[in-house]
Amino acid sequence: MAPFEMRCIVCGKVHDMDRPAYACTSCGNLLEVSLDIREAKERLAKSRFGKRALSVWRYRELIPVGPKTKVCSISEGGTPLIKCDALAERLGMKSLWIKFDGTNPTGSFKDRGMTVGITKAKELGMKTVTCASTGNTSASLAAYAGLAGIRCVVLIPEGKVALGKLAQAMMHGAIVVSVDGNFDQALDMVMRSSNKLGMYVLNSVNPFRIEGQKTAAYEVCDQLGGVSPEYLYIPVGNGGNSAAYWKGFTEYEELGFASGRPMIRGIQAAGAAPVADMLGRGLDELVPVAKPDTVATAIRIGNPANWRKTVRALKDSGGGASTVTDDEILSAQRLMASTQGIFAEPAGAAALAGLIKDLEQGRIDSSSEVVCVSTGHGLKDPDAAVAQCKRPKAIEPTVEALERLLGEL
Ligand code: F0G
Repeated sequence: MAPFEMRCIVCGKVHDMDRPAYACTSCGNLLEVSLDIREAKERLAKSRFGKRALSVWRYRELIPVGPKTKVCSISEGGTPLIKCDALAERLGMKSLWIKFDGTNPTGSFKDRGMTVGITKAKELGMKTVTCASTGNTSASLAAYAGLAGIRCVVLIPEGKVALGKLAQAMMHGAIVVSVDGNFDQALDMVMRSSNKLGMYVLNSVNPFRIEGQKTAAYEVCDQLGGVSPEYLYIPVGNGGNSAAYWKGFTEYEELGFASGRPMIRGIQAAGAAPVADMLGRGLDELVPVAKPDTVATAIRIGNPANWRKTVRALKDSGGGASTVTDDEILSAQRLMASTQGIFAEPAGAAALAGLIKDLEQGRIDSSSEVVCVSTGHGLKDPDAAVAQCKRPKAIEPTVEALERLLGEL
């Protein structure tokens, strides 16, 4: 087998990696890149990575782009795995880590996938790239398309994208199209128009996006000294990132570079929880949520395109899915910011909210080794932050006024 092959996740049909493709030409299901582990083991020794800095491209030999291809990169990945002692103490846990992917160049994990996706777009000679987005994908795609000199068209749900993300997409020079509908409708438009309009789709249905995102799992194992955590908590929207982590953990273990794989707990917002609902009810198919709603606009998705991939990850890992309310998300966001110094956007606090709920409900032991993924930076969504905090206290510009105020508190 070649080092990499692109196959359908359901029927296994092999597809040409040198042509734009997202779905199987036989059965319509999504595609994924598979890595020939035996071949990769022969090609690689772990020491190969050792000298390189932690980053997406540290793992270049495990990423399916040509060895001579010039990569489009602005230093993505290599994000901190923060040991959260203060937070662990508050929650009565022995230890807790947060993988803060909000520290990527455009402030979310999307950059991991986008550096690979745009590099692939260049390899394929694409002239226009596109995505539908709740905000972060569009911000990231716009940045990388600008870097690569490729035209970028992003479709966003009208009025439901956080201000910082909108500012990014516009500043990076994308053609920003506001659709009078939700994310699911915008993604449907993208998928139906891309071939006709000659646009390469860089939503997470694109298998090369997942190949970049899987490096986060490699990093977690390397940062923990070659072992996987017991649990990984992660928000689920369109379902790409949770699937990417599972793929990364699986490959790294099979390569012999890490021991063990975590149970993946996928966390959804209660108003947009088709995956949790499906697993909770033991269904075989996803029932889309027609009108998804949550303060965590990044994961305001009712019909996740990657549902088969994420369900496989959650089930195969022995983890599962659960839901958190908007109040629980916001409370976790404040707790993370005020006790640990980590400012995440609401979706980036959903995993912690899920962990807190699992602890309260006795679903997980407080001595478990847990990594929570925080997917996006808090500065992305200033409105959501300001709306839940007290306004600044206004005083006269005198020392007495300040003294009086502090005395009253
Ligand atoms: N967290 C953040 C901050 C996100 O932006 C997203 C997805 C997710 C979690 C969920 O990841 O879709 O792979 O399950 N945002 C997409 C976007 C949909 O358009 O920016 P997922």
